[in-house]
Amino acid sequence: MTLSVVILAAGLSTRFKSKTPKVLHRLLGKPMLEYTLDLANALTPKPPVLVVGPETEAQIRAWAGEQARYAVQRERLGTGHAVMQTQSMLEGESDQLLVLYGDMPLLQLETLQKLVEQHTTNKAAITMLTVEREDPRGFGRIVRNSQSGHIQAIVEDVEATPEIAAITELNTGLYIFETAFMWENLSKLKPSKRKGEYYLTDMIGLAAGAGKLVDGIVLEDPSEGLGINTRVDFAIAAAALQQRTNEAWMLQGVTVIDPATTYIEPGVTIEQDTIIYPNTHLRGKTVIGADCEIGPNTLIEDCEIGNRCRVTSSILEKAIMEDDSDIGPFGHLRKGAKLCTGAHMGNFGEMKNSTLGPGSKMGHFSYLGDAQIGENVNIGAGTITCNYDGKRKHPTVIEDDVFIGSDSMLVAPLHIGKGAITGAGSVVTHDIPDDTTVYGVPARVKEKK
Ligand code: UD1
Ligand code: CA
Repeated sequence: MTLSVVILAAGLSTRFKSKTPKVLHRLLGKPMLEYTLDLANALTPKPPVLVVGPETEAQIRAWAGEQARYAVQRERLGTGHAVMQTQSMLEGESDQLLVLYGDMPLLQLETLQKLVEQHTTNKAAITMLTVEREDPRGFGRIVRNSQSGHIQAIVEDVEATPEIAAITELNTGLYIFETAFMWENLSKLKPSKRKGEYYLTDMIGLAAGAGKLVDGIVLEDPSEGLGINTRVDFAIAAAALQQRTNEAWMLQGVTVIDPATTYIEPGVTIEQDTIIYPNTHLRGKTVIGADCEIGPNTLIEDCEIGNRCRVTSSILEKAIMEDDSDIGPFGHLRKGAKLCTGAHMGNFGEMKNSTLGPGSKMGHFSYLGDAQIGENVNIGAGTITCNYDGKRKHPTVIEDDVFIGSDSMLVAPLHIGKGAITGAGSVVTHDIPDDTTVYGVPARVKEKK
């Protein structure tokens, strides 16, 4: 059996009220649409066909690129009409056609795999995903044959009689169609009475009327069928995804002290026995080792953190922390910053494109930019690498075992030799040889007695 996927995303999303296409809004770091694309890609190697509107086509294409094929629905004449836009592209391609929505990010792969499996086994014309909900408003109602229990029709909310409106088995909007049936009958859809739309749901009545089997699976976890219409739905989905991710990490041996305020994006990995404290955001492609303590009040994006590291109330972006290093409170590692094994960075430090060598310490109020610091160096409180002269950035190199006195200004380019010392308040404008002490403004060499 071969499978093609259509993702419907041409709706006008008026209730979302945004100039950015709804499906490109980020949920836990990923555009809503990416969740659906990931599902499609896991099910079939054929790129899914995205049905988009002319207003959003350019933005969606710019983001999704070659991951998808595109069909533009110029007039919004309903879900059936949306699928019609894909017929010329897809007819003859596969045996099965799965229809997904671009705004249903909680749907799980296992659920779709079950749907495909059952469709293949039972040889139905249509196999659909239904959901039981107490409040059925807005959904299509599933009408089953009272004797056989088979699905006979879907009746849309606006078209439902009071009797049908009382049905609580509802249409999620996701189905697999046997393509032979689909492409032969899609053009038979007629505009609906109330809205004048071509309802994809009318395909169910057509199939049942022709004596074909319409099969269904009821969602075990109704939240999977949540469609995002408003920003209120969006927040509900975000919280559900957050909880799902946090629970998965807890089951892998990570302690999450307060799941409600812990935000771990899907691309992050964490090793066992790490503890995540409240209000921590782990983003992008961040890798965190074992036995770390992360947070509280911490944001880490695209970083590599080793084992037994500690990060307290700090912000780290595109940085590296080797084993047993620590930072915070109130530290900032920017792009290209690296704390080597056992390095310590205390309160109010900032590093950019710099390395603090193994066992080196920078305890208080310091800035290192474009600096390479060796082993066992002490960076005194308030030290600044003056790396920018207003036009260009210049490098600083500090060799092993150097002691930088408090409030030293290190004017780059600068090389400080092994074992050198700077006095408190020095403004260092010239290179310092090994084992030499300098002091004053501008710093001069202190002669050995
Ligand atoms: C649809 C179903 C309904 C189901 C509900 C579940 C139909 C007729 N009804 O209703 O049975 O219970 O979903 O959420 O299918 N779209 C297009 N082009 C269009 C119209 C819609 O691409 O012309 C897309 C939307 O972007 C959205 C999806 O199709 O992703 C569903 O559209 P929506 O308007 O939300 O459908 P409902 O009327 O809610
Ligand atoms: Ca909807």
